Amino acid sequence: MRTILWEDGKVVYLNQRKLPKQLEYVCCDDYQRIAKAIKTLEIRGAPAIGVAAAMGLALVAYNSRAKGREELLRRLEQASCVLRKTRPTAYNLFWAIDRVNTKVASTPGTVEEVRSTVIAEALAIGKEDLQTNKMIGINGASLIEDGDVVGTICNAGWLATSGEYGTALSVIKIAHEQGKRVSVIALETRPILQGARLTAFELKQDKIDVRVIPDGAIGYCFSKRMIDKFICGADRIIVSSGGHVINKVGTNTVSIVAKHYKIPFYVAAPLSTFDFNSSLKDVIIEERDPREVAEIFGRRIIPEGVSVFNPAFDITSPRLVEAIITERGIIHPPFKKEAENLLKLKIRPLNF
Ligand code: MRU
Repeated sequence: MRTILWEDGKVVYLNQRKLPKQLEYVCCDDYQRIAKAIKTLEIRGAPAIGVAAAMGLALVAYNSRAKGREELLRRLEQASCVLRKTRPTAYNLFWAIDRVNTKVASTPGTVEEVRSTVIAEALAIGKEDLQTNKMIGINGASLIEDGDVVGTICNAGWLATSGEYGTALSVIKIAHEQGKRVSVIALETRPILQGARLTAFELKQDKIDVRVIPDGAIGYCFSKRMIDKFICGADRIIVSSGGHVINKVGTNTVSIVAKHYKIPFYVAAPLSTFDFNSSLKDVIIEERDPREVAEIFGRRIIPEGVSVFNPAFDITSPRLVEAIITERGIIHPPFKKEAENLLKLKIRPLNF
């Protein structure tokens, strides 16, 4: 299954807001529609929004009537600004936009050549994402033992990426393909319920046993040894600080409770999620519409006049992370050396 596809000059994406009730693919030829889809979580998950933004730029290039190279570059820059403003936290969004623009800047040529460069780079980002995520699964599956129950939060499966395997769920899916008996406990993930709606949908499709729990039940499940290990994805990993993991709100709570109960807490993420440039204080944690918390099915459940704080992500200290699973291998503690290891990994060329 794929979340985003390029088809004859149009982008076709799966509208995740409609899941699990409806499998609706939306076809669009306008990058502004892609920007709206990212903002409203029709397309969500760090790698998926990176691929979507790159495809948005491909639409700009494909549809542009620019008469000269400079004009097309200006259009791409304008679109890049709009796409960058869609969501502030997931690093893959910025990584993908920068990658397309850097490729264009280093490719001299006519409007036609720029057009094909942008489209080719966007398609390459989508294709590499599939390969990368499968490698994450292959590397991470070595951590899974026969009979393991794995906890996860939000959705870090194929829906959160270009398709097929995902990141954290790739580890589980590959272990399952290898014949290991593995089952999952998925946190429902309030307020948008990515765990209940999306992770449960994906794993059911793959015939992997999954149970959904309320977010607040995680401590109880750990205390009863109902979960052997916890694996989540990441929206951004800050290298300069030693590997702070920014992921769906609630992840930090899980990591602290996991430490308390001595349950290994793993993160699975591609190198495109590793931010080698920002410091921790530069990172913007997205705050979303209070109505996501205040309302259920459009009905307000919190008394009028009571305010809401709705951060979409939180920050987990690298001290709480047992290992980070990447397409290039598993990074183990001690995390003092983590930043150096990640930097070394960054300069290795991807070669599948
Ligand atoms: O707000 P979302 O649904 O985009 O948040 C997604 C997550 O937090 C995922 O865990 C993260 O992007 C990793 S997905 C491979």
